Amino acid sequence: MELGLIGYPIGHSKSPWIHQQFFDQTGIKGSYQLIEIEPSQFEQKIKQLKRSELAGFNVTIPYKEKIIPYLDEISCDAEQIGAVNTVVCRNQRWHGYNTDGMGLVTALKNSFPTLFTGGKAALILGAGGASRGIYYALANENLAAISIANRTISRAKDLLALNQTQVRGNALSFKEAEENLFQFDLIIQTTSVGMTPEFDQQVIDLSQLKKGTVVSDIVYQPFWTALLKDAERRGGFVHHGHEMLLYQAKLAFELWSEQIVAVEPALANFS
Ligand code: ATR
Repeated sequence: MELGLIGYPIGHSKSPWIHQQFFDQTGIKGSYQLIEIEPSQFEQKIKQLKRSELAGFNVTIPYKEKIIPYLDEISCDAEQIGAVNTVVCRNQRWHGYNTDGMGLVTALKNSFPTLFTGGKAALILGAGGASRGIYYALANENLAAISIANRTISRAKDLLALNQTQVRGNALSFKEAEENLFQFDLIIQTTSVGMTPEFDQQVIDLSQLKKGTVVSDIVYQPFWTALLKDAERRGGFVHHGHEMLLYQAKLAFELWSEQIVAVEPALANFS
């Protein structure tokens, strides 16, 4: 089973390492190749890929939206989110999915099952592409409220409008989020703030954090972001960014292979 990742730049991707573990677990023979495509070559390379023997591939920055016109089918979730991170190729037909948001929700459920038993309030920091997938997945869970804070509030408002369920929530500025932080049981950081090399940056101040709140950061380089260190100091529970990476990969591999795989070995050895 030949798999791959398209994006630019992708030289430091961990995905080949992760998917090799799934190949080993299932005994399926195959490989996962990095297919770096320069933006000026996109259309030409995609047409070549369409004629290739790939069984499926992941899509990362900057192509999660650009790939959509080349698909033959798209899942309802991915269509609503407006981004695709997984393509299944069958009989020369490409089917697009988005496993990012569900990857994070599955990871959170596994580590903190009581978050989704009812009555809890979540706050998402950021309203970009990553936030859209996460918001969409969270909105289908058993939460009392989901608010979104963003530097540009209008983007947070637009994202709230995507919600097809009745879960309540507000669009907030970062300042409003900081002042009301004690109201939230789950905070998910989806911006690139705090990523290496700017690892000392923190998108909001956590001085009003409630003890026992789960703080999840999708940034995984560094492993301990400034936000997560601060959250732990203040009595929060932390959820590291590599969990989302591993769970979105698990869900993608399961779509390609139609077999269930475990993330625990990769979680234990991630570096
Ligand atoms: P991605 O697909 O990774 O989510 P994106 O769609 O470009 O990327 O979205 C980036 C998100 O990070 C946005 O919420 C952006 O805020 P704006 O909508 O106000 O642009 C946020 N972001 C990026 N850099 C930021 C910074 N320095 N401070 C605060 N928010 C930032």
